[in-house]
Amino acid sequence: MNPMSYTPDDLQRFLDIASEAVSAGGAVLQHYWGNLSDIRSKGRPGDLVTEADKAAEKEVLAVLRRHVPTHAILAEESGSLGEPTGGLLWAVDPLDGTTNYTHQYPFCGCSVGLLIEGKPAVGAIFDPARNHLFRAAKGLGATCNREPISVSDTATLANSLLVTGFGYDRRETIDNNYAEFCHLTHLSQGVRRGGAASIDLAYVACGWLDGYWERGLSPWDLAAGVVLVEEAGGQVTAYDQSPFVVESGRILATNGKIQAELSEVLVSVKPLARFIPD
Ligand code: IPD
Ligand code: CA
Ligand code: CA
Repeated sequence: MNPMSYTPDDLQRFLDIASEAVSAGGAVLQHYWGNLSDIRSKGRPGDLVTEADKAAEKEVLAVLRRHVPTHAILAEESGSLGEPTGGLLWAVDPLDGTTNYTHQYPFCGCSVGLLIEGKPAVGAIFDPARNHLFRAAKGLGATCNREPISVSDTATLANSLLVTGFGYDRRETIDNNYAEFCHLTHLSQGVRRGGAASIDLAYVACGWLDGYWERGLSPWDLAAGVVLVEEAGGQVTAYDQSPFVVESGRILATNGKIQAELSEVLVSVKPLARFIPD
């Protein structure tokens, strides 16, 4: 079914469900803040899971099951649940920024997005450190704590503040974003590394950052934040400005004004092969 086949009332209802889910998950994250006893590695250095990730996911799934029991879900810690019907798939990241969270670095979020026919259509993100609730749905606008938000009007890369991230596979591939980070650090006012893709995207939507790019991501990292940026007046594409595909894990999201300039750099940068250890 085409995303447009769902009415604004349907999307509003899905947005309220997503908001309830991230608020429930976010409350769990607040509960465990600074009180973790079970921090485990998922394999790659820095790729961690804690009892807070699992408990938050349980709360998020309980809300989704209560309101939309037949809908399919893709959740980071539980995997694929149910068969997609009506082209709907919920993408759940119960704790985006787990590494930050384990260090009590207050930059993380609970993120729930709804994909309709693979396209991000609804998203809610809760930042438990600041009590920020970010919400957006196709055609309904974007808000932070119910106040409308919009992207910045920074017009050039030279005047922009950017953010990016580095996937957990960064030691295994020359496509590790190191070269892009170096180049863009020179070409902009700065490149931050937030450590939570969903909050990076929310901050672009708020106009606090002008652009974000990253590779190696999963649908649960991106689904909600993409809707926020688009509904806040920004642009989301692949690195080469072709249409964004959530499964690619590769995203360029900006205020729209610096999309072309940033894209030009991303498609032309050569990898820094020497940073791959032997
Ligand atoms: C990670 C964060 C980080 C990004 C990683 C993601 P997680 O999510 O969003 O900013 O650079 O690629 O996997 O593991 O903390 O949910
Ligand atoms: Ca994540
Ligand atoms: Ca996570």
